[in-house]
Amino acid sequence: MVDAINPHGLPADDGREFGEARCPAPSVQEIIQGDAMPAPPVLAHESYEYMGSEDIGYGRYYEQAFFDHEIENIWSKCWQWVCREDHIPEPGDYYVYEVADFSYLVVRQKDGSVKGFVNSCLHRGTKLKRAEGFGSGNDLRCPYHGWTWENDGRLKAVPCAWDFPHVDSAKYGLPQVRVGHWGGFIFINPSDDGPELLDYLAPLPEHFADWGMEDRFVELHMCKELPCNWKMAQEAFLESYHVLETHPQLMTGVGDANVQYDTYGDHISRFYAALGVNSPHLASPLTEQELINQMLVGDRSVLDNDALKVGEGENARIVMARFLRNVMGEKYKTDLSRFSDSEMIDTIEYHVFPNMVLFPGISLPMVYRFRPIGSNPDRTLFEILFLRPKPDKGHAPEPAEPHYVSEHESYSSAPGMDAAFGAVYDQDTDNLRVQQQGVKTSRKHGETLANYQEVRIRHFNRTIDKYLEQK
Ligand code: FES
Ligand SMILES: [Fe+2]
Repeated sequence: MVDAINPHGLPADDGREFGEARCPAPSVQEIIQGDAMPAPPVLAHESYEYMGSEDIGYGRYYEQAFFDHEIENIWSKCWQWVCREDHIPEPGDYYVYEVADFSYLVVRQKDGSVKGFVNSCLHRGTKLKRAEGFGSGNDLRCPYHGWTWENDGRLKAVPCAWDFPHVDSAKYGLPQVRVGHWGGFIFINPSDDGPELLDYLAPLPEHFADWGMEDRFVELHMCKELPCNWKMAQEAFLESYHVLETHPQLMTGVGDANVQYDTYGDHISRFYAALGVNSPHLASPLTEQELINQMLVGDRSVLDNDALKVGEGENARIVMARFLRNVMGEKYKTDLSRFSDSEMIDTIEYHVFPNMVLFPGISLPMVYRFRPIGSNPDRTLFEILFLRPKPDKGHAPEPAEPHYVSEHESYSSAPGMDAAFGAVYDQDTDNLRVQQQGVKTSRKHGETLANYQEVRIRHFNRTIDKYLEQK
C-alpha cells in the first residue's frame, strides 16, 4: 500500500498557526454534504479549540501519589454512570457499582425513583452486597451479623438489639450518594457538592435530544481487565491517528486522517469519522462499489443483494445507509427512516468525563466505561456494551449479563462480538500493555501530542488538572 498524502513525512513549519493545519482530504463536513439524507444540525458544526502543544507528563499514568489524588478529587467528586434503567426496573432491584476501592449500590424504590447508597454496613463496615452486579431483594442485609436496612435506607433490624442501646436508629440510615438520570442511564455522584447531572453533562443532553438513548437495550456487555492506567486506556479511543499503524485493515472504508475532533466545556468531547469513503492514506482509491464491499462486517453473502449495488448518482454512503436502515429496522423491529445517512453509518463518538464513551450512531452502537481497579494505577476495568434500538412495539430483550474476558483472551470470545471487530480491540489492548511499560522506562518527560488529532487527549488531561487543582 502506497501512501497518498505522504503520512510519513517529517514535521515542517508551513506558516500556519499551531492547531490550524488539517488533513488535505475532504473534511467530514464536506463529505456529509453529499449525503442523500442530510445530517442533523447537531452534526453539521465543528467545535475545535487549540489547547497548546506542550508535552504531557508521563508520571500521571503510573505514580501512586498522582493516582491517589485522582481518587480523592475525581472519583469521589464526579458523576459516573452505574447501569441502565433496565437493569433495575422493579422496586427492590439493585445494581452494585465499584470503582477504585469504593463500592456503591443503587436501589429502585417503590415509587419508581432510585436511591444510591455507600455499600458498607454501619456495624463493622462489611460490604452489604459482596460484589459488582445486579439483583433484587426485599431489604439490604449484611452477610456478617445480619444488620438489615429497608430498601430506602432506613435501619430495619439489628440482631440482639438489646446490646446496642447506644444505636439511635434515626441516625443509622445508610449514607446516601446523589443519583441522576439521563438517556436511560443511572448515574451517581459520591459528593453532595458540585453541579446537577444535566448541567455537568451539558451540552450532551442537547446533542442527544433526537437520538433516543433511553429507547435502547443492552444487547452485549463484556468486561476485560487492561494492563494500563485508566486514562491511558480511554485515550486509545479518543483519536483515530493510530488507525494507520495499529489497524491497517480498517483503512479501506474509513476517513481516518480526516476525522473531525470537537471539544465542549470541560466534560464533553467528540470524534466524528465518515465511513464509506477512502482513507486519505490510500494511494489507489477504491470505487464506490468496492467501498461497499469493504464496509460489510459479518454476513458477506448479502453482497449479492441488489440493494447493495451503487446506482447512478449514488455513492457508497448513500447505498449503505439505505441498506442498513432497512435491514436493521427489520432486525430490531423499529422504524429507522428518520435517521440521516451519517447517523446510520458513521462513527460518532462522545466522551463524557471521567470515563464514559458513547456512540449514538445506529450501526456502531457502543458504550465504553473505564474504571481504575482497586488502588493500582496500572490496572483498568474496560467494558463494552452494545445498545440497540428497542422494538417499536412489545418488550425489549432483558439486558445482557456482563461477560468477563480474561486479560489475554480475545475480545472475540465474548458472545455476540464479531470476530473482525474483536480483533480491532485486541490490537488496541496489545498497544496499551507496551505503552504502560514504555512510559515507565522513558527518559523523556512526557508525551508529545498532535495539535488537532489528539486534542481530545489534551482536553481530557486539562480537565484532570482542573479537578486536581481544586482544594
Ligand atoms: S458488619 Fe454488618 S452486621 Fe456486622
Ligand atoms: Fe484502536
